Amino acid sequence: MKGIILAGGAGSRLHPMTTAVSKQLMPVYDKPLIYYPLTTLMLAGIREILIITTPRDQPAFQSLLGDGGRWGLDLTFAVQDQPRGLADAYRIGADFVDGGPSALILGDNLFYGHEAGRVFARAADTLDARRGAVVFAYRVSDPRRYGVVELDGQGRPLSIEEKPDDPRSPWAVTGLYIYDGQAPELAARLQPSARGELEITDLNRAYLEQGRLGVERLGRGFAWLDTGTPDSLLDAAAFVRTLEQRQGFKIACPEEVAWRMGWIDAAQLARLAEGFGGADYGAYLRGVANDEAR
Ligand code: DAU
Repeated sequence: MKGIILAGGAGSRLHPMTTAVSKQLMPVYDKPLIYYPLTTLMLAGIREILIITTPRDQPAFQSLLGDGGRWGLDLTFAVQDQPRGLADAYRIGADFVDGGPSALILGDNLFYGHEAGRVFARAADTLDARRGAVVFAYRVSDPRRYGVVELDGQGRPLSIEEKPDDPRSPWAVTGLYIYDGQAPELAARLQPSARGELEITDLNRAYLEQGRLGVERLGRGFAWLDTGTPDSLLDAAAFVRTLEQRQGFKIACPEEVAWRMGWIDAAQLARLAEGFGGADYGAYLRGVANDEAR
């Protein structure tokens, strides 16, 4: 399966921090924000990934990520010249997905949980088997800020709405979506919403109306964090710092994930570590490579 990271937008709620720098390049404790969704896709086994950015920010993302080869990935880049909405990813990415299934993740979404990669990979497998779309729902205390899905007793979706004033459930739709090859065609038929955007919720509703939308609920053991405001960005950084310092493992380290997935070997990992010179990040990678030998 292929993956798309949507990393455009104006980041206006983070101005002036994002006046000259992309939101998805902001630090979340010890790494750029985009590493978190990138490694989420990697842990789900996805290696061929399209990164959609603004025209202004594309060179910065390219210099950070390159072609992904050092992490065993195949990264390509595309631009979104205006923030036309999340479903625009499937207009821009139509040739990239080329009629096949894909996962779309928002460049500012941070997922953390036990075997998260396996949970997402399993959902992708079931989608391959039955076709349609899968979204991941997370219980939140303020669903009005999100897409909201209403479920029946069996966990099947009844309705889906974007930022409703009067939510029918506490289940927010997170920023990770898995679609079959029909997504570009359905996205091409969407009309902009009242706020002028091609809404991902409208794409999901198109699948729901065809009876082909699956919903996976992420339980209490999962963390799904926002990074849209200065406070939520700081909270996300504090969350990552707390876990990393307690366990001594890094969250969302692409070098480590590539190695654990078997896409690079220990010698390649050691070479990547050298590239960080004396930085703690390099010392961590060296430790990971050596640790396994013990
Ligand atoms: O985070 C999950 C939520 O994401 C979902 O529950 C909602 O259904 C979905 O509409 C979306 O809501 P947001 O209000 O968080 O979307 P936002 O406009 O902030 O865009 C999310 C990210 O996508 C943001 O980092 C910027 C980027 N983006 C956004 C737009 C509109 C783009 O790259 N291009 C765009 O055109």
